[in-house]
Order: sequence, then structure tokens, then C-alpha cells
Amino acid sequence: MASSTNSDTLSLPGLQAYLEKLGRTSTPSKGDLVLVVPRLRIKGVKPNELAIELSSKFPTLLLVNPPLPQDSYLQFFYSPKTLPRLILPFIHERKELYGRTTAPGPKKKAIVEFSSPNIAKEFHAGHLRSTIIGAFIANLYESSGWDVVRINYLGDWGKQFGLLAVGWEKYGSEELLKTQPLKHLLDVYVKIYADFEPEKAASKQARDEGRDTAEIESRGLFAARNAFFKRMEDGEPEALALWKRFRDISIERYIDIYARLGINFDVYAGESQVDPATVAEVESILKERGVYEEGQGSWMIDFAKHGAKHLGTPILRGRTGTTTYLLRDVAAILDRAKQYSFDEMIYVVSSEQDLYFQRVFKTVELMGYPDLAAKLKHVNFGKVMGMSSRLGKVQLLSDILDNCGSAMHDVMRTNAVKYAQVEDPDAVADTIGITAVMVQDMSGKRINNYPFDINRMTSFEGDTGPYLQYCHARLSSISRKAKLAGIDPAEGDIDYSYLEDDHSAALLRTMGQYPDVIGLAFKNLEPWTILTYLFRLAHQLSSSYDVLQVVGAPEGPGAALARAALYENARQVLGNGMQLLGIKPDVRL
Ligand code: ARG
Repeated sequence: MASSTNSDTLSLPGLQAYLEKLGRTSTPSKGDLVLVVPRLRIKGVKPNELAIELSSKFPTLLLVNPPLPQDSYLQFFYSPKTLPRLILPFIHERKELYGRTTAPGPKKKAIVEFSSPNIAKEFHAGHLRSTIIGAFIANLYESSGWDVVRINYLGDWGKQFGLLAVGWEKYGSEELLKTQPLKHLLDVYVKIYADFEPEKAASKQARDEGRDTAEIESRGLFAARNAFFKRMEDGEPEALALWKRFRDISIERYIDIYARLGINFDVYAGESQVDPATVAEVESILKERGVYEEGQGSWMIDFAKHGAKHLGTPILRGRTGTTTYLLRDVAAILDRAKQYSFDEMIYVVSSEQDLYFQRVFKTVELMGYPDLAAKLKHVNFGKVMGMSSRLGKVQLLSDILDNCGSAMHDVMRTNAVKYAQVEDPDAVADTIGITAVMVQDMSGKRINNYPFDINRMTSFEGDTGPYLQYCHARLSSISRKAKLAGIDPAEGDIDYSYLEDDHSAALLRTMGQYPDVIGLAFKNLEPWTILTYLFRLAHQLSSSYDVLQVVGAPEGPGAALARAALYENARQVLGNGMQLLGIKPDVRL
């Protein structure tokens, strides 16, 4: 130990070197800080022995208790004396900024693309998950100091629009389009799709038998669909006008429904918004680089020839001459790179499209833009099982939210005494119901599938959305009641020595971890990381109320005031975490 000058304690310069190597832990039982002794790179002594030696030489520090050697680690626990004095004023000063990165200077830019439903089609569980997880990731980037652009990439282009237009001729009603546009467009599409199905089946059979499908597809609804979509792609004003009406009217409704979730998109983009000039640019680059091939009138990439056999041979331009989903996505990347010059772009889309996004990203690479490709990220997630069978026939986001709200309302009614005290039960049931769905969705790792369980998610017991809301509401009510009793942390001088007991210390340590938990979530992009933390905090709080009383605290008014400050700041942390997840704390509960 060259840098220590006397043999009993470490000198300051020596200590500095150790402190720089300190890491934080996410498991409170392992200490608040940890020194991994091998990282000191001191030769000739076994790390375990060195840990013991170091622990005995550590000087007394204000912030932490004397370190504990544990194998080749030194564990540090914050001193219960210092904890409340440091953490409470820190949180109190920052309020909703606690946990956020507020570094000055130029920000990096991220595009987060999420939700992205298809106009005139069902809003399915995949869109629901994309909405919930995407909103969280956008918030997370923002609170980590990034500029974020929230994009909704609507499925508003393609052959299905041709089919919808044909259906509109046959089944459309101006009246219904006005009163319930989303539902009506969906109905029209469902009807025309039923008409179309036999033709589709015939074409599939022909293909399976190795026959040419061109003849079948040159007649009937096939031909009408393709012709209309071709007119759209050719920019014919009449075709575009109809399409634009459907699009505008749908977006108008989407805005209101997303507002119920507290989500506001910066841009309603969509497959239709891709610049045709960029599409042409993509194709000419691919041709130039010898990556684009023609076969039976279609244009495709044979990835096997470019070292990526598993990506197959997808078509980018179909034989009727129209663009595909894949070609549009690739072109959209170039458009966005020009418009936003982003540092990262995140697609929040179901794992069913894993292979698809590998194709998109690989295509960008093959175009000769590896740096751009490196900025693209697909954040995927698993399936929700049985949502429609458990919720009844849901097809729109508003149906899902309405049904969960009313299930929540039923649960609230079962407690008649509490129910009578709720100011606006309809509105409360709506927010708590939404929280229930969101918490259920975030309760596991993204990639896991989970069953949609309306009974479990709306329960106030267990780690559910209603329980989380209840914890927050309870903390608010503690503050309210304290103020009524003349206990107001904003007014009095807080004596922190009342918060040195084990219970308070444990709570404070957890509260102090919040910024690190955000840091961890920023790495793994798992809402689950934040949610588990919030439940840990909530459980600790629940078991504190009897021990750490405020109004009528047997330890006297000094203890009451200090604890009121403790709870008030705990509420701040809980609320900040909920907001980050996209959950609106509802104090009316
Ligand atoms: N609209 C698509 C669907 O419903 C999702 C779009 C995902 N984003 C993208 N850039 N491809 O499956």
C-alpha cells in the first residue's frame, strides 16, 4: 500500500484513489456502495485478505458507517445519521426533477416511434403494448437529458387502403363516419374483407400449387383493390382526397384517446408520408450497389448473397409496381435522418417483427450507411394472451380503456364506505383502470408473454396498479391530515435526529436509490425495473405507518414533523416514478 503513510488509517490521497473506485449497488442488503477490491489492482495480497485489512484501516467518514469486508468486497452502508440530512433536502429542493438528468449543454436527440396502429383496422394488444412501453421509453430518454421526438407511424398506406376504398363505395355511410369514424371505418373494412376472403383463398391455393396467381388477381376485388392503391401511388387527386379524409378524421380521434393516457405525439407520421423521391433514391442506391434484383416483375434483396441468409429474400417493390412496407420503412429512415439528424431511433414494436426489423436495418447497412444503421434500435416485447376473450369484443383503444374503467368501477363499488367518499367515481375509475392495464403490462420483462387478467389487475391487493395508486393517495392524505393538525414541514425546523431509526433509514436508503434505478432502466429499457423499485418502496411504506406515526406520534411533535417530511418526500419519489412510467397519480382515490 504505497500511498498510505501511516499504518493505522489511510491518508487522504490514498483514500481518494479508493473512493474513485467505489461503485453503487442495486441490492440494498449488499450495501449502498461497494468497493470491488481486485479493481484496486494491488498485487501480492489475496483480495479477501486485503478487504479485511482495508476495512480496519478505513478512516471514519461522515457519509458512511465503517466498511464491512465481504469476500473480495468492501460494503459501505450510509450512516443513518447523515442519510436524512442529505437525502431529504436534496429531494425537497428538486421535487419533480429528482431523478432527472439536468446537465446543461447540447442535448442528444432520440426519435421514439411507438403505438403505430393501422387505420381502419383493429387496435390490437400489440399496439397497446407498444403504446405503454413506448411512452415510457420516451419519458425515460427525456428524463435522462435527451431531446425526444415522439412519432406515431400510422399504417395509412398500402393495398388494404385500396380495399377500404372499394368497401366504402359499397358499405360507407357519411352519417356514421361523422359520429363514430374509427368504428365505422373498421366495420366497412371488416365487411369488404369478408367479401374478399374467397378470392384471397383462391390465390393462396394457386400459389401453394405452384400455379401463377396473376390471372386470379387480375379480376374482382383483387383488381379493384390494386387499381385503387395504384391510383393512390400515382398521386391521383380524387383517390388521395378520399384517403386523406379517412386519415384526418382518424387522427382527430386518436389525439383524444391518447390524451386519456396522457400521451401526446409530436408527429403523426405514417407509411403514406414517406417522400417518393426518397423511395426512388433508396432504389437507385440499392441498384448501384448491386443489391437490388428483379424477378417476375418484383424487386427484392436476396440477403443470402450478402452474408445474411437468415433474412431471406423479401420484396421491396411488388409486381404491380407499388412499394411495400419494407421499402417505405427504409425510405422513412433517410427522411428522418435528414429532418431530425437524430442520434438514436427506437422502434417499439412486437417481437413478431424481429426478423422484419433486422431486414430494415441490414438494408440500410447494405446501402452503405453503417453509421446510420448503428443508430437504429428495435425494442421488442412479447404477446398478451386472450385479451379479446376476456374483455369481450374489443377492437379500438377506447374500447379497451372503457372496459377496464368499468371493471375498475365495479371493484370500487364493492367497498361501499370508501366508495361513498370518492368525489368523482367515474373519472377516478377511468384513471385507476388505465393504471391497472399499464401496471399489468409492465409487471414482467418486456419479452415475456402474459395473460390478460382483468380480475387480478383491478384488485387493490398484490402488486397492482390500484395498489400503487392507493399508496400514493395514502401518502397525500397523511400530508393533508398532518397540515390540518398544524404539522407542516414547510413551516417548521426539522430535527433530523428523529429519523435515525432502522425503519426510517431503510426508507431513506430506498428513496436515495431512485436515480440509480433510472440509470439501470436507461440501460435495459425495461419498465419493469422502475416498477419493481416502486413496489419495493410502496411495501416499505406500508409497513412503516404503524411504526412511524405522524399525527399523535407518541414520540412528540418533533418526531411528527420529521416524519411528515419523510412521507412527503417519499410521495414525491413514488409520484415521480409513476409519472416516468406514464401513470398519472390520482389523489382523489
Ligand atoms: N403499423 C404496424 C403494425 O401494426 C406497426 C408499425 C411499426 N413501425 C414501423 N416503422 N414499421 O404492425
